[in-house]
This record gives sequence, C-alpha cells and structure tokens, in this order.
Amino acid sequence: MTDLAENLVVPTLTQLDTAARAALFTEARTANSFDPSPVADAELASIWELAKWAPTAANTQPLRVLYVRTEQGRERLVEHMAEGNKAKTLAAPAVAVLAVDTRFHEHIPTVFPIKPELAQYFEADETARNETGQFSATLQAGYFILSVRAHGLAAGPMAGFDAAGIDAEFFPDGRWHTLLVVNIGRPGQNPWFERLPRLDHSEVVQWA
Ligand SMILES: Cc1cc2nc3c(=O)[nH]c(=O)nc-3n(C[C@H](O)[C@H](O)[C@H](O)COP(=O)(O)O)c2cc1C
Repeated sequence: MTDLAENLVVPTLTQLDTAARAALFTEARTANSFDPSPVADAELASIWELAKWAPTAANTQPLRVLYVRTEQGRERLVEHMAEGNKAKTLAAPAVAVLAVDTRFHEHIPTVFPIKPELAQYFEADETARNETGQFSATLQAGYFILSVRAHGLAAGPMAGFDAAGIDAEFFPDGRWHTLLVVNIGRPGQNPWFERLPRLDHSEVVQWA
C-alpha cells in the first residue's frame, strides 16, 4: 500500500433521527403568537453561529443579520411592516432582520482564498454580483430558519414589509438590503394557523 492510499479518509455522515427531523421539518411550524419569555442574546448569537456553516456560492456568505430586541427598535421596525404582520412583530421576544450585503465580494480574499480574483470579477459585474448575493443570501435565510428551530425556538418568517423603508431606517449607508424579517421566540397561545397542504411528490419531483 502506498503512503497516499494509507492517508485516504472516507467520512461517515450522521443521519438525524425521527425526533430531530420532526423538530426541523415535519412537526415544526410557523409561529404567529409568542410567549413573553425572553430569548437570550446567547441564544440569538448561537442561531447565527450554527447557520453560518451551511453552504453558499464560492463561500461568499452574503447574508447579514440585525437582531431587533429593544422596544424602541421594535417600534421603528413595525412602522414598516405590513398591517397583518405588525401585532406579532411587536409581541415576539426577538426579531431578526435578514439582509444581503451588496458588497459581500469585499470579503472574498478571506472567505475564498483559493480564488481571490473573484472579488475583482464581482466588482466589475454588478448584475452577477447582485444575482449571486441574492441567491446565496436567500439560501442562508432558509438555513437561519432551520437554525432557529434547531435551538428549540419557533420562527415566524415574513416578507410582508416595505423593504425600502426598513433599509432607510436601519441601513442608511445603502449597503445592506432587507430580504426577510423573522420573529423568534417560544410559541404563545394558539400560535399556529391551520397546517396547509404540501404539494404531492408527483407534482414536484421528476426522475431522469
Ligand atoms: C419567504 C416567506 C415569507 C412569508 N411572509 C409572511 C408574511 O408576510 N406574513 C405571515 O403572516 N406569514 C408569512 N410567511 C409564513 C408562511 O405563510 C408559512 O411559513 C407557511 O404557510 C407554512 O406554515 P407552517 O410552517 O405553519 O406549515 C412567510 C414565510 C416565508 C418562508
């Protein structure tokens, strides 16, 4: 056997059990009311620390997170939420504004050192930059919701808001653009709407 062959490593991956899958997917629900018990800063920090490991294009990690926790911050945010989203955003113990950093490519020499010149490519091509940033940041927003659930908390994602208004309020330098607002906490009274049907396998999955 050569030295090379001796060094070959074949990783073994872990399969989540039914309870873990339920917490992330099958039993997890979108919360519309919240218990007033607080969510600790450490829990919010940990949600990001877990979500950050999931994959993005060229490891660019364009998502940015603003945690809104003070009463004053909440009022500034709710002003820009759609009418139907105001009450639950006011009641949630914590709220995350998820945004894309439109100049994410400045970090490429650090996060993708195998090809640092990609930063110049994205600097020169605004369309490619925006498409790549939007795509990977949106993926990261999904990872973020699953990370909230992995912490035993409920998420209430919302796209009903005036994005330009939130951007002007919280990100006045124009660099971050709001994608999604996520209420975070423990479920309150009657927190779930009726479970809506999922599309059938046959409507979604093709095989080739
Ligand atoms: C991108 C996105 C945008 C959403 N926007 C809103 C919203 O503005 N207001 C709201 O009440 N729910 C919103 N929702 C919640 C969805 O309606 C909910 O997650 C979906 O119906 C599934 O519910 P379930 O997790 O309880 O099965 C949004 C969810 C996502 C992922």
